[in-house]
Amino acid sequence: MQISPSILSADFANLQAELDAIRSADWAHVDVMDNHFVPNLTLGLPVVESLAKVSPVPLDCHLMIDDPDRWAPGYVEAGAESVTFHVEAAADPRGVARTLRGLGARAGMAIKPNTPWAPYEDLLPDLDMVLVMTVEPGFGGQSFMADQMPKVRAVRESVRRFGGEVWIQVDGGVSAATVEQCAEAGADVFVAGSAVYGKDDVPAAIAELRALVAAHAHP
Ligand code: DX5
Ligand code: ZN
Repeated sequence: MQISPSILSADFANLQAELDAIRSADWAHVDVMDNHFVPNLTLGLPVVESLAKVSPVPLDCHLMIDDPDRWAPGYVEAGAESVTFHVEAAADPRGVARTLRGLGARAGMAIKPNTPWAPYEDLLPDLDMVLVMTVEPGFGGQSFMADQMPKVRAVRESVRRFGGEVWIQVDGGVSAATVEQCAEAGADVFVAGSAVYGKDDVPAAIAELRALVAAHAHP
């Protein structure tokens, strides 16, 4: 059970201090948006490279960008230990995943709320993580989509059948109020932006999420 706070809700003028505040987390979730795949623009390679140099925890880059086939490998070179691309944007998802692994990173594949899981099940041997979006990607602070829980269960079932160790991440609207149902459905990596950085006591917010999911660890 791992917690990956999203710095999208952090103070972008003080990112080093904001990363220091989440040293009790497992990862720092970095949302890369290109204003094409999603209608929002955040940061890219040079910023990720700078963050990787100062972060106390490894970077979990979530690429909400077009053409990850071309751009995703650069994020490994920039220092990200986990790179997640969107299957909707990839021409060759298996190829992207294999390239990421070949460069030494964990390969994650994200699926938007309206994207079904079944067509991609056979990609599992090439993946380290599946990210089931629980909001439409693009912005922090949106409402959690509980209707994505059956998809989390379906991915968990596929991973069980496959037999390998593939993490399942949830991202969007994850908070103390919604994190338990994610864990119950089979998620094991929890991204939270506003539910962590929106709190006065950031370490306490991380500890609270950890305590809530600890009771729901899947076998
Ligand atoms: C949304 C991003 C999320 C975002 C989550 O497109 O992928 O990582 O930061 O923010 P919250 O936790 O506030 O929904
Ligand atoms: Zn994200």
